[in-house]
Amino acid sequence: MGEALADSTSDASLQRTVLRSEQISADLEVAPERYRMLTGDRPTGHLHLGHYFGSLRNRVALQDKGLDTWVLIADYQVITDRDSVGSLQERVFSLLTDYLAVGIDPARTTIFAHSQVPALNQLMLPFLSLVTDSELRRNPTVKAEQDATGGRPMTGLMLTYPVHQAADILFCKANVVPVGKDQLPHLEQTRVVARRFDERYGRAGDASRPVFPPPDALLSEVPNLLGTDGQKMSKSRGNVIELRMSADETAKAIKKAVTDADRHIGYDPVARPEVSNLVLLAALTTGRDPHAVADEIGDGGSGALKALVTEAVNEHLAPVRARRAELAADPGHLRQVLATGDARANEVAEQTLAQVREAMQMVYG
Ligand code: TRP
Repeated sequence: MGEALADSTSDASLQRTVLRSEQISADLEVAPERYRMLTGDRPTGHLHLGHYFGSLRNRVALQDKGLDTWVLIADYQVITDRDSVGSLQERVFSLLTDYLAVGIDPARTTIFAHSQVPALNQLMLPFLSLVTDSELRRNPTVKAEQDATGGRPMTGLMLTYPVHQAADILFCKANVVPVGKDQLPHLEQTRVVARRFDERYGRAGDASRPVFPPPDALLSEVPNLLGTDGQKMSKSRGNVIELRMSADETAKAIKKAVTDADRHIGYDPVARPEVSNLVLLAALTTGRDPHAVADEIGDGGSGALKALVTEAVNEHLAPVRARRAELAADPGHLRQVLATGDARANEVAEQTLAQVREAMQMVYG
């Protein structure tokens, strides 16, 4: 059973995945209607520029290409590793507000919270019958999460969260999932579940098609944006610029950003990670090449660089922030958006669960 999964990280398999992802990217341009994309986030905090340039921007671009896009708020996934989670309600609505503010359009994208979709969660039971505990323990993301909990015992939900994630993807039969390379083992777990369901439980209605088509990864180039201290961006380090921050708060965060002693500004992420990161930030927010940005500052030093970055980030985020403030002032609208997405997700999940029951010969009425 475990072989398929172990194989997923081999070079040959990675090459196949990359090739397939390239084919899909090309096909998306000509036949977007063939694709349903699903992705999502844990509602653990406010979204920041790392999320924005790492995934949100890409989602909006995919939505705008005309694929059927689904974005999931993974609220159950928040409780995999936390004793106290604070108000999930607040976090969920803050995430939703960020989504809408950056341009995810609920008229074209189904936005839903997985806790609100009982039939999705019910898939967890048959899916759990298709995986082994050793396979889950080997999953690199489960391992990484476990290490991050500082040796505390792992909950059953943490161990099985790749299976829950498989349910997130398969309930709506998404066929593409945008991921970074580090997330590939997750997707492979989903593909394994889909294949094994077909082998073990068979098909429903249309015998020519499996109940769950194995989804493909859509790999994207993601800029390696660091925090304002030149370290990995993370909220707990206090080195992030959040979408919801004010222009003043942004200026303060950039003012205390780490630089180096060389007055001449260049773009060299390996030798000068802190300065290069600021240059990259200005480049991303103005749509320019980082080398051109660095050349422009030249001997102006970090003061000039920071002034440029502050202006570029604030200008880029101004419309997002204005929209965010408007949205936050209308909680009724936000509730309505989520209720509509949840209703659509439920409709699709119930259809899928009906097929699962049929395939499993669990129809008794
Ligand atoms: N694990 C993702 C995160 O950490 C959230 C998520 C849950 C997800 N289910 C998913 C992403 C399914 C893609 C597909 O934010």
